[in-house]
Amino acid sequence: MNVAVLLLAILVALGAAASAQPTSILLSVELPVSPTAGARVFAQKSCIRCHSLAGGEARLGPDLGTIPRLDDPIAIIAAMWNHAPTMERELRTRGLTWPRFEQGEPADLTAFLLTSRTAAGEARAANK
Ligand code: HEC
Repeated sequence: MNVAVLLLAILVALGAAASAQPTSILLSVELPVSPTAGARVFAQKSCIRCHSLAGGEARLGPDLGTIPRLDDPIAIIAAMWNHAPTMERELRTRGLTWPRFEQGEPADLTAFLLTSRTAAGEARAANK
């Protein structure tokens, strides 16, 4: 199983846990990963309402471009897993629900977040 497929499975499970509705899990597909598509997912799934990415205005959640320890896909998924109850509560107070992810979206989202972090790190290094 490649990493993208593993991430898909975990995030589908995460979404299912958050919404308390059964969701089928697909494990056997190879997924192309696209940071550009991930940027769209970040906006469409409301992440952008609560998280900035390496700067911009302060939002409710931490800046996902600069907080430490999110430098590999597993760390990002683990962090989302750990913080899901808090995020879900915050979503509910705004009349929103935890997003459902379609096939490929979690991998794209993770790729986008990693790309943004790399770009932010390089910009910081260049400004030193
Ligand atoms: C309603 C607001 C809200 C939305 C929408 C939201 N988050 Fe969060 N997120 C938070 C808050 C608040 C925290 C901090 C939770 C905590 O400290 O337990 C957080 C934490 C996180 C963390 C962990 C950061 C760390 O400290 O390790 C990640 C990763 C994350 N969010 C990713 C996402 C992604 C990806 C999306 C879109 C699918 C998303 N969030 C949508 C509010 C939100």
